[in-house]
Amino acid sequence: MRLFIISDIHIDFEENSIWLQRLSHQEYTEDALILAGDITHDPNNLQNMLADLRRRFARLFFVPGNHDLWLNNGNFNDSLEKLEHVLSLCREADITIEPQRTGEAGDPSAVWVVPLLSWYAQPHEGEDTLYLHKPGEDADNRMWADNYYIRWPFNDVGPSAYFYQNTRNIVEQKYDAPVISFSHFLPRQDVMFSENRQRDLERIRKFDRNPPFNFSRVAGSTLIEKQIRRLKSVIHVYGHQHINRDRTIDGVRYIAHCLGYPNERSRGQVRGLEQGLKQIWDTTQINAIPGK
Ligand SMILES: [Fe+2]
Repeated sequence: MRLFIISDIHIDFEENSIWLQRLSHQEYTEDALILAGDITHDPNNLQNMLADLRRRFARLFFVPGNHDLWLNNGNFNDSLEKLEHVLSLCREADITIEPQRTGEAGDPSAVWVVPLLSWYAQPHEGEDTLYLHKPGEDADNRMWADNYYIRWPFNDVGPSAYFYQNTRNIVEQKYDAPVISFSHFLPRQDVMFSENRQRDLERIRKFDRNPPFNFSRVAGSTLIEKQIRRLKSVIHVYGHQHINRDRTIDGVRYIAHCLGYPNERSRGQVRGLEQGLKQIWDTTQINAIPGK
């Protein structure tokens, strides 16, 4: 079994939907795909897409992203209710939303794939945020659509802390094979940047398309990083930023490989899709991880 990854497939863009339809029906029937969130806000289209991908792979792992929980379509009181709906669709369609080992117990080539439900911590939520100050930013991030389409029912806890508490069982479980975890959101500040953070910051200053928008306000949470370290993940896959990366930090390989938006691809923000899905593991070769 080979393990492939993709995130942020945003199928409401026709070009993206065509890209996915062109994926082979034969090539991946022995393989698994990790889909790290952001399919579409439309629950029916989301269900159809998951079913379509499920047919092409031996196994499909999934966590929803923020777009999947938008409340602009369907009759949901809040995003937690929509999340429950999406998770029940997954259970019915045999899409894996809980940790699963890729082989039998004792199989030296097996790995555990561990999906982590998560959310971002905004600066006002305290120390778990990935926030970095940006000169001239809009402190209310008014252009961030989640402000209008996401609603949580919690009063005394932020969504990032809520998911952290609710995934405790998963994180504290014992795993008898290497762990590959994945989340939609980013686990740490470093992965917002390449190895050359200074150059990235200079580039942002020069070519920033949205100066008031500060992505770090809604990027992720250090609570995800805590989970990764507790799990001792060898690889962590994430999405959300729409910039593809493959970095090893303190012994963990962090990989983002998204489809993104057509305009992000055409202006070169999203690179690396020429080879299609990214393969991150081959369980027929013990501990073999293809290089970058
Ligand atoms: Fe996202």
